[in-house]
Amino acid sequence: MLGRMRAATRWRRLVEARLAQVEQLSAGRGAMGTEYWNARGRARRYVAAVGETAERDPLFTRMRRVTRRSSTVIDVGAGTGRFTLALASRVGSVVAVDPSRAMLGVLRRAARQRGIGTIRCVEARWEDVAGTLEPADVVVCSYVLPLVAEAEPFLAGMHQACRGRAFVAMNAMSADALVDPFWRHFHGGPRRPAPTYLDAAEILSDLGVEPEVEVVELRSLVGYPDLRAAARHYREVLALPDTAEVRAELRSLLDPWLVEERGTLRPPITTTPMAVISWVGGAAGRP
Ligand SMILES: C[S@@+](CC[C@H](N)C(=O)[O-])C[C@H]1O[C@@H](n2cnc3c(N)ncnc32)[C@H](O)[C@@H]1O
Repeated sequence: MLGRMRAATRWRRLVEARLAQVEQLSAGRGAMGTEYWNARGRARRYVAAVGETAERDPLFTRMRRVTRRSSTVIDVGAGTGRFTLALASRVGSVVAVDPSRAMLGVLRRAARQRGIGTIRCVEARWEDVAGTLEPADVVVCSYVLPLVAEAEPFLAGMHQACRGRAFVAMNAMSADALVDPFWRHFHGGPRRPAPTYLDAAEILSDLGVEPEVEVVELRSLVGYPDLRAAARHYREVLALPDTAEVRAELRSLLDPWLVEERGTLRPPITTTPMAVISWVGGAAGRP
């Protein structure tokens, strides 16, 4: 009988094969590391797209249920601080961990402007600092995990840093599903698949954790001010070269596909499924 491949190994292979595919098509673009998030204008575009959506987010509702005024929170891969900022006024303190200076820069500015003094930013990869931080009541990680090849130590770090409830949120439908016809049109074959929330849940089981998994519908956050901005985004998603020919072809494909709503262009879906995986942290009961 063949041995079962560990979920963590499967996860790593899937993430690496996906990054290698992009690297092959567009040298230097394969690693979606810190440079990717620090690239000029990206943090600004990200915050413009996600805006103040945390309050309406099902993940936020679930975090609110388990937090009090005195709670401490760690936001793993906090980015521009969508959840950090929304939580900070409701809990005791939030530690926002993210390796991207540009993404944290947006968060820091917003915290200053709102006079919030209970946020501490840690500019680092989670796996490099997880063991050094004081455990928190709630540890949350939203839309980060599929970017990480070594998911097992990443999740183990979350588990050990959490006294109460830990949450991982990720897409439950690969965003690739939406652009699959375009990927095949330009590259003549399929995109390498990403790991899923079921793989993440299995890694947690292998760590001895019993995860609770919910799939909820989330209002799509994606929107573009005009066709040019949309083409720029999809050129990147599809790992295409920046040539006049590609830009023109993309615009001609996107124009009939995108839907206009209140001055914004968006893909022809209004919601996407999101998985919320949660579990009781391993630091529970520890002071
Ligand atoms: C899609 S954004 C999500 C931001 C935020 N959590 C949200 O839901 O709006 C992904 C973020 O993960 C961060 N990130 C990527 N790898 C990371 C790692 N190993 N440790 C911590 N953060 C990481 C990136 O810098 C980026 O800011």
